Amino acid sequence: MRHLPPFIDFHNHIVPGVDDGCATVAESLDALRSLYAEGVRTLVATPHLLVPRLGTEAALDRELEMQRRAFDRLADAVARESDLPVLGLGQEIWAPDAESVRRIAGRTDVGLDGSRALLIEFGFDLRGTHEDVIEAVVAAGRRIVVAHPERYRYPSGANALAVMRRWRELGALLQVNAGSFTGHYRDHRPESEARAWAMVAEGMVDIIGTDHHGPRRVGVSPLEAYDALCARGEQAAAERAMVERPGQVLRDEPIEEPDPAVRSRSADG
Ligand SMILES: [Fe+2]
Repeated sequence: MRHLPPFIDFHNHIVPGVDDGCATVAESLDALRSLYAEGVRTLVATPHLLVPRLGTEAALDRELEMQRRAFDRLADAVARESDLPVLGLGQEIWAPDAESVRRIAGRTDVGLDGSRALLIEFGFDLRGTHEDVIEAVVAAGRRIVVAHPERYRYPSGANALAVMRRWRELGALLQVNAGSFTGHYRDHRPESEARAWAMVAEGMVDIIGTDHHGPRRVGVSPLEAYDALCARGEQAAAERAMVERPGQVLRDEPIEEPDPAVRSRSADG
């Protein structure tokens, strides 16, 4: 059997019946088996938490409780099988503005598997730069991982890579979807593939996640992404984004910028 690094995935929708991902425990187990076969050893499930649509604290409580119960049912089923990833629970938080993020940043039941990190999406059509969201997360003493920046529609006239660079300067980590490297989102957002590769060249891919949505959206493969990166001489970047950095995030460890010599080498190559 091929030896692969122990991939970590903390962006996926495999909690059964809570969002637009897996609908049943059986579907979730299928997804987990195939991800394990591709080398994923640790998986933090991230159901959508649509903060602007949960208008009250009680609504937030109910949603998080519902997600936790569904996750526990899945965890029980996973405990009865071998050769599946180790599971944790988080959320993909839709927070387009600072006000949304302030509502959840203080909660200990929100974050990636009990870490201080929040996986945040701004919404597919960006309104401005959303820098206020990053600043609010950092001010709350937490870490922000921006979900799939390569897939957003940027305001007209904005340079996507320059906006992303600024987000990183403000302290955000950038999470690219595995499928972006293999053209999975070509129909939805044609520029996502070129952007993902441009981010690699600039050393801006902090994390690679699957954004796996279960059987109704097939074709998401962490192994294909890893192989595509290796084929372009980017194995070190792939391992950093699929093993090292996601591990550091989940363990709340500091993250160093890669050695500048390494960055310029990868930008040349
Ligand atoms: Fe997602």
